[in-house]
Amino acid sequence: PLVTTKEMFKKAYENGYAIGAFNINNMEIIQGIVDAAKEENSPVILQVSASAIKYARPTYLMKMVEAAVEDTGIPIALHLDHGESFDVCKMCIDLGFTSVMIDASKYPLEENIRITKEVVEYAHSKGVVVEAELGKLAGIEDEVKVSAREAKFTDPDEAYEFVSRTGVDSLAIAIGTSHGAYKFKGEAKLDFERLEAIANKLPGFPLVLHGASAVMPEFVEKCNKYGGKLEGAQGIPVDMLRKAASMAICKINMDTDLRLAMTASIREVFATKPEEFDPRKYLGAARDSIKMVVKDKIKTVLGSSNAI
Ligand code: G3H
Ligand code: 13P
Ligand code: ZN
Ligand code: NA
Repeated sequence: PLVTTKEMFKKAYENGYAIGAFNINNMEIIQGIVDAAKEENSPVILQVSASAIKYARPTYLMKMVEAAVEDTGIPIALHLDHGESFDVCKMCIDLGFTSVMIDASKYPLEENIRITKEVVEYAHSKGVVVEAELGKLAGIEDEVKVSAREAKFTDPDEAYEFVSRTGVDSLAIAIGTSHGAYKFKGEAKLDFERLEAIANKLPGFPLVLHGASAVMPEFVEKCNKYGGKLEGAQGIPVDMLRKAASMAICKINMDTDLRLAMTASIREVFATKPEEFDPRKYLGAARDSIKMVVKDKIKTVLGSSNAI
């Protein structure tokens, strides 16, 4: 069934694992993800950005997710990723999403609280849960100075104040991850002390890790081998992700790894079978490789196998 993340997070918190939240925008991606979750007997979060909803179109998206729920029978949450405003959150709640993220982290604290509270009020009246974000995920372009990067990390006291005043259901925090395929220039580092401090301020409260792709070298290399150009791509080491999942992190967001896996397998088909022009040949390969990646994530990063 289509469910909220409430029960998923409660069990994940208590048992030291996390639920994977994977971005979707077409049929092959959805099938790859839910087939993997089904085989691992794991709950899963399908998340969609506003631009992905626009791309897939709302009606197609809702019907495909409905089909995934019906076909697999596993608990699936449908979540809006990085909602920018009350209006986009409301649109998704009205469409039937079970979870929304309001990301007002670019605004000053009081403004972030005000916008988040407004979304929480509407969402809760419809039985929908809300994720918010506090702190800023810094990419390498921002990493002029380590101190500048760390200044954007989530403050534990502010996190406590934010959660108490908004009534939000989960909180995305900044501890050193960032979006995309270029996360670190030098050595990868996450601020686990900060994660621990935030968790201590908010006992039992589910935290969320964005920008958590490992940027799997095998797929970067395969992309480059078959004509791609991804130089210096670097993600979060798997042991760090697993450690975060064992702590208060209950949701781990991954999009880049799926994009890389999909692109690598399509490039491989194009390069090795140039006579092929049936889309099922390369989109089918892409679906298979997304399924492989998601199974690997469930086993090595999330620890959510047999959690249903
Ligand atoms: O954090 C963003 C997700 O990877 C979705 O990206 O806005 O390009 O769909 P998008
Ligand atoms: P990645 O770019 O590391 O996959 O992060 C995705 C994400 O945080 C979506 O919200
Ligand atoms: Zn994100
Ligand atoms: Na956890």
